[in-house]
Amino acid sequence: MREIVKILENKRESELIHTIFFDFEPKARPGQFFMVWIPGIGEKPFTLSYSNGITLKIAGEFTKSLAALEPGREIGIRGPLGNGYPEFKNITLIGGGVGIAELRLLALSSKNPTFLLGGRTESEILYLEEFKKMGDVHVTTDDGSLGKKGVITKLLPFHSENYAICGPEMMMKACMEELPPEKSFFAIERYMKCAVGLCGQCSCSGWRVCVDGPVFKGTELLKMNDFGKRRREKSGRWLYF
Ligand SMILES: Cc1cc2nc3c(=O)[nH]c(=O)nc-3n(C[C@H](O)[C@H](O)[C@H](O)COP(=O)(O)OP(=O)(O)OC[C@H]3O[C@@H](n4cnc5c(N)ncnc54)[C@H](O)[C@@H]3O)c2cc1C
Ligand code: FES
Repeated sequence: MREIVKILENKRESELIHTIFFDFEPKARPGQFFMVWIPGIGEKPFTLSYSNGITLKIAGEFTKSLAALEPGREIGIRGPLGNGYPEFKNITLIGGGVGIAELRLLALSSKNPTFLLGGRTESEILYLEEFKKMGDVHVTTDDGSLGKKGVITKLLPFHSENYAICGPEMMMKACMEELPPEKSFFAIERYMKCAVGLCGQCSCSGWRVCVDGPVFKGTELLKMNDFGKRRREKSGRWLYF
């Protein structure tokens, strides 16, 4: 599906995080993603955080342009793409930074989810009050402004039937070392061009993240030597973490 959508609201969630709401509710499973196109700028992958919205952290040129868009502006969306999460009966959601937003729709579709949330500082812990109404919430911040001081692995090991993890790659790699791989599902990111499995740009040790992922079971990630080690830049050059 390709659709041109109009921006209804650009909400600033924190210093670097914005949610863009648009006038269309695309159908997707939690964990699937959309290629978002800004005319004249380019196209990049984003996960829905709301049925009609995406949440972004300003990192470079594209996200800077997205965060500056005013209501009424039109953008394109292409998708849904990728596999998404399987259905879980009992799940602990582990989110770091803007990865917390990427887990919101999975939380809404889960029964009694538990949350382990990590950020650099309090303002990065999104949807805290909303998540507290859904289940138990445990928080860490690097500066100690909310919850336990330190990184999210301070909360691990943590007993659960399943785990869904989304955040910076080194945070996910550290979680992987503490979690049972057959019960853990990680949403990983790679630079994408075609997003439909043709160009190979998003390869992680031979797995195409756009079609084989972006959600991978821990048992699959253990076979990917590139995970937590290196990824390809836009130019195709290797970038080491
Ligand atoms: C399936 C998927 C879903 C995503 N969902 C979201 C989301 O919901 N919210 C959000 O803020 N971002 C999400 N991203 C990342 C997003 O697509 C952008 O790549 C990122 O926000 C930076 O884009 P930029 O052009 O502003 O910065 P750039 O200038 O391209 O990059 C800034 C920094 O981020 C690194 N980077 C860029 N693209 C990627 C990538 N795809 N994977 C790993 N590192 C990268 C660059 O090497 C650089 O260090 C997702 C990525 C994927 C693959
Ligand atoms: S982005 Fe082209 S194969 Fe994944």
